[in-house]
Amino acid sequence: MISRTLHALTRALSPGLRRLSHVSSGGPIEDGSDSAHLTGHASLYVHWPYCLRRCSYCNFNKYISRENNDVMMTECLRRETDALLQLSQVSCVTSVFFGGGTPSLAHPLTIAAVLETVAGRVSLSDEAEVTLEVNPTPEGKSRLEEFCVAGVNRFSIGVQSLQDEDLKILGRDHSSHQALQTIEEARRLRPGRVSVDVMFGRPEQSVESWESELSELLKVCDDHVSLYQLTLERGTQLFRRVQGGEASVPAEDVTAEMYQRARTTLHQHGFLQYEVSNFARHNAVSHHNMSYWRGRQYIGVGPGAHGRFVPLGEGGVDREARTQTLEPDVWIREVQQRGHGTRRRIRLGHLELLEEVLVMGMRMTEGINHKHWQMFSPQLGLREVFGTSAEVREFLQSGRLVLDDRGLRCSWDGLAVLDSMLPALLVELERETSRKLQSDEQRERSDPR
Ligand SMILES: C[S@@+](CC[C@H](N)C(=O)[O-])C[C@H]1O[C@@H](n2cnc3c(N)ncnc32)[C@H](O)[C@@H]1O
Ligand code: SF4
Repeated sequence: MISRTLHALTRALSPGLRRLSHVSSGGPIEDGSDSAHLTGHASLYVHWPYCLRRCSYCNFNKYISRENNDVMMTECLRRETDALLQLSQVSCVTSVFFGGGTPSLAHPLTIAAVLETVAGRVSLSDEAEVTLEVNPTPEGKSRLEEFCVAGVNRFSIGVQSLQDEDLKILGRDHSSHQALQTIEEARRLRPGRVSVDVMFGRPEQSVESWESELSELLKVCDDHVSLYQLTLERGTQLFRRVQGGEASVPAEDVTAEMYQRARTTLHQHGFLQYEVSNFARHNAVSHHNMSYWRGRQYIGVGPGAHGRFVPLGEGGVDREARTQTLEPDVWIREVQQRGHGTRRRIRLGHLELLEEVLVMGMRMTEGINHKHWQMFSPQLGLREVFGTSAEVREFLQSGRLVLDDRGLRCSWDGLAVLDSMLPALLVELERETSRKLQSDEQRERSDPR
């Protein structure tokens, strides 16, 4: 049951969040609490589903486009953004993330049009973080400057590797030289607001080569790094090659060592780990992703996008998990016919919402503080839920987990094994919430006033 919940949660997260790798701890706890999940605030994720080609490891919702349908996509993204904003009745969009697929293939006017739609309906401050995922391109082909004019103020570049041989194995269509050029251009345009994605645990990779690659990266990168452990996804070319014995990936203890060395190296270079896979210096954290991990509302627009918000516009009172139709042509038709392409809506019950808050919150080094938890669970505090279980006590005693006056969080060692602790935490949450419910019902029966 719990493993299904965990699996379902990670599958249901927004595409940009699904890369679970190993994980961490440490930094100062900021007060992430506010009432944004209750009030009219939300972040916005916009999915651009097209890519130039299929990378060998990727199972994201992406399609190789045969024709240019920019005009139709722009129109549909605008319409769906407008419809879902209206449905949510939010008054303020706090950040926007254009992910994919390869959203840097979209026309800058598409990006501008979506932002204009947002600003036309709700408040979108000039300071709001607007991120675009960018694939490295040959010199002269990038449109980063035009994207800045369109309103993008943060770039997230899919570097993946700085080894040309590995880029080929991964099926990437760029060289390490082109990645370096793209980083340089992005840093020139948006200094301090450029992130790079890199993967480890790649075929034939050794700890030593990973370390030297990381030191190369540290010479050129800006203030934000995302490190993802390669997941072998079923249905991908790489999965088949590894199954067929044509390629092999490092053993689990080797990737664990890669993760630990990377954390230490980044720390030595002034990067604070603030989430399982994310590191920032000079406080250049991704505010958009933080809003997911802090359990705030988000609206997902575009084929296959996920959202979590209360549909106030329809009189809804509970948060819903929404998924948009996956296939772009079908999604386009649906948006043209009824203004949005929502394929699935699931009302989140109290326990399901708490499960999400737990799974997402524990990914952050700051963990979940008492005030934050109380906003979602006013009746049952963190200590009441997790303070009495024998299994959780063992995590606390071994130093992997911390439960104190600040809240609940992983230690440095604990973050690396978060996935192994989550099932026990989820069991405890389920047990304590149902116990609370039963005792409330009993009290009501004996005192039915
Ligand atoms: C889906 S991609 C979209 C961005 C862009 N198209 C790109 O490829 O850089 C977002 C990030 O997910 C990560 N990712 C995708 N597939 C993955 C996998 N199988 N294992 C680990 N990370 C993965 C990559 O690091 C990538 O930068
Ligand atoms: S990794 Fe990025 S570029 Fe490659 S297929 Fe997936 S979404 Fe497209």
